[in-house]
Amino acid sequence: MCPFKTTVALLSIVLAVLFTVPASAQNGRGTGRGKQGCGCRGQGLGEGVCMNSGQASAPDAIPEKAPGQGMGPMFGPNADESFVTDRDTFHSLLNSHDKIDRSVMKLPTGVTTITTSSDKEVATKIREHVEAMYARVKEHRPIRVRDPLFAELFRQADKIDMKVEPVDGGVRVTETSEDPYVVQLIHSHAGVVSAFVEYGFAEARKNHAVPTDESAPMLNNEQTQHALELSARLDRVYIPALALTNQGKKDAGQKAVARLAAEAPALTAEMAQTVGVEPGQWLLAKEVDKAIREAQSLVGQGQLAQAHGALEPLRNMLLDERRRLGVDYPVDVLSDFHEVMEKIVMPASKAQPTDVDDAMIASLKALSVEASASWSRVEQTDFNLPCFVGLDARKLDTLIADERAALTELHRALRGRDADKILKSARALKPTFARVYTAFGDFHP
Ligand code: HEM
Repeated sequence: MCPFKTTVALLSIVLAVLFTVPASAQNGRGTGRGKQGCGCRGQGLGEGVCMNSGQASAPDAIPEKAPGQGMGPMFGPNADESFVTDRDTFHSLLNSHDKIDRSVMKLPTGVTTITTSSDKEVATKIREHVEAMYARVKEHRPIRVRDPLFAELFRQADKIDMKVEPVDGGVRVTETSEDPYVVQLIHSHAGVVSAFVEYGFAEARKNHAVPTDESAPMLNNEQTQHALELSARLDRVYIPALALTNQGKKDAGQKAVARLAAEAPALTAEMAQTVGVEPGQWLLAKEVDKAIREAQSLVGQGQLAQAHGALEPLRNMLLDERRRLGVDYPVDVLSDFHEVMEKIVMPASKAQPTDVDDAMIASLKALSVEASASWSRVEQTDFNLPCFVGLDARKLDTLIADERAALTELHRALRGRDADKILKSARALKPTFARVYTAFGDFHP
C-alpha cells in the first residue's frame, strides 16, 4: 500500500450535520456533527422544512439484531458498494484477532498506532482495512453508526488528519486533530480498535460511548434550564423562517426571516452569558449572526431556496453546542429520528417501483426497525415543558401517533411485495414528521 497522507479539511467551528447518539448509549455529553448543508435536493418536506442528514447512508456491520435484520448495503443512488467488502475484511480481522499485534502511543494531539501480523494474509487484511477506512473517513461514508463512538468519529471526520504508512507486516497510523474534543475521540477510538484486537467479535458486538468533552463548561441546573428556554425561544422564530423559505412563500418567508434576524442576536447573547462565554468571543454567536444576515439578503432578492439553505445549518450548529454542553433539549430527539428517516425517504423518493428488489426490501426492513426504535425515544420524551410556550401538547401527541402509524404502515407494506405501496409508505414518513417538527415554531406571532 502506498503511503498516503490526508488532511481532511479542518472546519473552524464546532459545526456540522445531524447526528445523534441515543442518549441511552451516551456516556455523558459530547456529541457533535459532521458536515452541514441542505440535503433535501429539491424534495422538501410536506410542511416545507428541510432537515438534512447530509451524509451518505451508514450501514452497520456486526449484527446485533435477528438474522436478516442487519443493515446491509444500501440500494439505488445511495448504494454503499464497498460495504460488503469492508465488512468481510474486518470480520476476517476479528476472526484472526489473536494473530494481530498492536501498540498505541498517545500524543497530545492524537495517536500513533502500529498494527501488524506475522501472518501474511492477516497483514494484507490489516492494510486493506485501514485503506478502506481511510477512504470512508475522507469521503464521509460512515460505517457502524449504531455504535455512538464510531458515529461521532465520522461526524467529526473533517477535523481529523490521518497519515498511514506501511511497516513490516502492517501499518503505522498517525491520527491527529487540532480540536481537543476530537483528540479525545481519537484516543477512545484507538482504545476500541485495541479491544477489537484483544477480544475479537466479543468486543465488536458492544457499543462504545462517546467521551465527555472535557473542554466544555459544566452547566448547573439553573443554567441548563435557561439554555433550554433560550433554545425553545429561538426555535419558535427559527422554524417558521426555515419552513416558509422552503415552501417558497415570499412575503411570509421574508417576514419570518426578518423576525428571526430581529430576535436571534439577543437570544444568542443571553445564551453566551448563560454558559459563561463573552458573546464577542463565541464563535457560534458569530456564525448564527452571519447565516441569518446571509438569509436575509437572499430572501430580499427573492432567492428563497438559497435563503433556506443558508438557515439550515443553524439547527446543527445549535444542536452541536447543546450536546457539547450537556443540554438535553427534547426537540433534538426529532433530529435523531430524522437522520434514519432520511435514509429511508431519500432513496425511496428517487426509486421507481421496478427498483424495489430483495436487496431494497431487506435494507428498508433494517432501516425501518431502526426508525421505529428512534421514534420510540420521541414517544418517551416529555415535551410538555414550560419552555415550550404555546405548544399544544395534545395535538403534538396526535401528530406523534400519526408518525407511528406511518411507520406501522411501512412495516406492513414491507411484509408484502407491492412495490408501489412500499415506496408510498416510505415517502409518507416525511410529511408527517415535518408536522411534528414544525409544531415547535410560532407561525402566528
Ligand atoms: C481486529 C479487528 C480490527 C483491526 C485490527 C482494526 C485495525 C484498524 C486500524 C489499525 C485502524 C487505524 C486507526 C488506529 O490504528 O487506531 C482502524 C481504523 C478504523 N477501523 Fe478498524 N480494525 C478492526 C476492526 C474494526 C471493526 C470491527 C470496525 C467496524 C466497522 C472498524 C472500523 C474502523 C474505522 C471506521 C476506522 C477509521 C476511523 C479512524 O481511524 O478514524 N475496525 N482499524
